Amino acid sequence: AETEREQWSGQYGFLLAAIGSAVGLGNIWRFPGVAYESGGGAFLIPYLVALLTAGIPILLLDYSLGHRYRGSAPAVFRRLGKRFEALGWFQVAISFVIATYYTVIIVWAIRYLGFSVTLAWGEDPLNFFIGDFLQDAGATVTTDVVGGIFWPMLLVWVAVLVILGLGVRKGLEVANKIFIPLLAVLFLTMVVRAVFLDGAADGLNAFFTPDWSALADPNVWIAAYGQVFFSLSIAFGIMLTYSSYLKRRSNLGATGFVAAFANSSFELLAGIGVFATLGFMAAQQGIGVGELEGITGVILSFVTFPQIISMMPGGPIFGVLFFTSLTLAGFTSLLSILQVPSAAIQEKFDLSRRAATLGVGGAAALISLALYSTTSSLAVLDTVDYYTNNIGVVASAILTAVLATFGARKLPELQRHLNAVSSTRIGTWWRVLVGIFVPVALTIMLVWSLYQVVTEPYSEYPWSFVNTAGWGAVALMAVSALVLSAVRWRRPVDDFTPSPD
Ligand code: PHE
Ligand code: NA
Repeated sequence: AETEREQWSGQYGFLLAAIGSAVGLGNIWRFPGVAYESGGGAFLIPYLVALLTAGIPILLLDYSLGHRYRGSAPAVFRRLGKRFEALGWFQVAISFVIATYYTVIIVWAIRYLGFSVTLAWGEDPLNFFIGDFLQDAGATVTTDVVGGIFWPMLLVWVAVLVILGLGVRKGLEVANKIFIPLLAVLFLTMVVRAVFLDGAADGLNAFFTPDWSALADPNVWIAAYGQVFFSLSIAFGIMLTYSSYLKRRSNLGATGFVAAFANSSFELLAGIGVFATLGFMAAQQGIGVGELEGITGVILSFVTFPQIISMMPGGPIFGVLFFTSLTLAGFTSLLSILQVPSAAIQEKFDLSRRAATLGVGGAAALISLALYSTTSSLAVLDTVDYYTNNIGVVASAILTAVLATFGARKLPELQRHLNAVSSTRIGTWWRVLVGIFVPVALTIMLVWSLYQVVTEPYSEYPWSFVNTAGWGAVALMAVSALVLSAVRWRRPVDDFTPSPD
């Protein structure tokens, strides 16, 4: 019943948790690389357009759905119409899958935090990462466990389970209230240090110098929408679940804008910090920033940064700041991802919070340890991540927008709701964007991604491998959505009327 539902202590707790979820690995390692490859300074235009036309509108859709229909994703979608429940479970499944691999990257960051102190990666950080550390076996699936990953991963899982077990207010909220301000301070310190490095200006020039021709490239626009979706953690149940714990009177509109602004500021800061640092490296090697390699993703954080840290005066301190930031940003996002399945299972199977956390978290922990603590972790992770984000999340966003607009015809009601609880006024523009623009734009993106994955094997892995890992993950999400929505509810879900605004 409504009275038993957990709640944030107030809007501030919710806001910090929402920022904690949004600010993650995507801000620190994804944004700088994507922006650099997609036109540098000119990328800010498609990025801003994507943020305003899709990011914030879907964020507000997630908020309004969770807040008005007060439930986990399956409960909310079922309350919009019985046959829509499967979409909720699809979102739950996406979150579950992401949780299983997100953890291992946090573990890497924690280990590298330790390695920074003694510069343990030595002369050849690439070999160290792939060989010594991951003991990477390439694009296969093995059962050879790497102890240096397995044990810390087990610890991370225990920490996550304890925090989620403590509940929304005592667990999630307290963790974010400690970790997010800490993250802001450490990260800002790192960025400030970076901009005073020799050569920093060249790095910033490389980052911000606009390549206007990029604006004519459809791929750049797709990259911008993809970045914004991933970065805001929208359309797969996270913000919906979080906002269901908000008190009735909550300023949703303003909170949404602040969370989105904080997330984007963090990305820009990361871009500045990363490129100032890359400028230093280029200067040390006497080359242009444009000639540097390894500027994206996993390699940027775990190979290129270690190289730079080794060259830098005070490198160990810089390394500790960087990897602690990565750890904190990742950990607070991980908490939010797991809350999605945990809340759903609690409600559907009438479980206590502890039982649901233990069940969901335990299952996710087992799967993630089995798949990602082994010598085959890198390729599996990379492939599952690509398919989940480019196909799973995009499909979920399209379905959510279409279903809210046309299936359940709830946009006018949700708009009224937003306006009843917010100080900011959400106009008709919101309905146009959610109902028409977002589905069209995202469908184009989805078709493009599908075309790519069927014509070329992702990242040049063998076909059999990408098909098993990538489509396997997507199929698993779809099937579990159908199966779970067919199971009987153990808690009353249907006798629900949204309270009047
Ligand atoms: N938004 C997070 C980021 O930018 C990523 C994330 C993905 C968070 C999935 C939660 C769930 O890194
Ligand atoms: Na983000």
